[in-house]
Amino acid sequence: MRYHKIPDETVRRLPIYLRGALHLSQQGVKGVSSQKLAGLLGVNSWQIRKDFSYFGDFGTPGVGYDTSTLIKHINRILNLDTVHKVALVGAGNLGSALLAFPGFEIYGFEIVAAFDSDKRKVGKKNSGVTVKDISDLCVLKDHGISMGIIAVPGDAAQDITDRLVNAGVRGILNFSPRYVVVPKRVKVITIDIAMDLARLPYYLPAG
Ligand code: NAI
Repeated sequence: MRYHKIPDETVRRLPIYLRGALHLSQQGVKGVSSQKLAGLLGVNSWQIRKDFSYFGDFGTPGVGYDTSTLIKHINRILNLDTVHKVALVGAGNLGSALLAFPGFEIYGFEIVAAFDSDKRKVGKKNSGVTVKDISDLCVLKDHGISMGIIAVPGDAAQDITDRLVNAGVRGILNFSPRYVVVPKRVKVITIDIAMDLARLPYYLPAG
């Protein structure tokens, strides 16, 4: 079953709740109240209750939520209850760090292919993944790859986006500092640490 009417803002918070629930589960905690979860994650308990109400009332009044049920529900809503194979484009500094990062596994993501245009990188292993020439990025869906990560310079981002879309990718995580255009059926999420950093000084006390 897929859930379609959950607001984007709630979807944005679900991975935060999932992280909290996984942490509690690893600690052997079987049940959690919205207040306890809120305290753990630094969010409002009413927000948690409102967000959870979008996918059914599975909490017990006065007791809270069963941790494993919570994990199961959120995983199902986010479509994380299956392994997602991911292709990375751009095996440079950032791409290499992403290939080496073990933290994707817990959500079922596997970077199974990496592509680059630099002949010195092609054919070499990077964190266990052999880097392929970008010209080989043709048909990813035949290999069960439905998601792509873009870690190339901004100038190459749209071209790489088009190639990923033509290869059958349906979701793109874009680290480049460019807005990329995709067909409606494809979802792009852009991550920009520099833009987040650029907001931070506004909050610093003067002096
Ligand atoms: P890098 O220069 O170390 O790596 C870029 C890689 O892309 C290189 O291996 C290069 O050969 C490859 N490449 C270039 N054009 C290509 C093409 N047309 N097809 C395939 N591969 C191609 O750069 P770095 O530091 O890894 O940054 C990569 C991108 O990520 C940049 O756009 C940078 O602005 C962005 N970035 C974003 C961050 C964020 O928070 N969103 C943080 C750090 C970097």
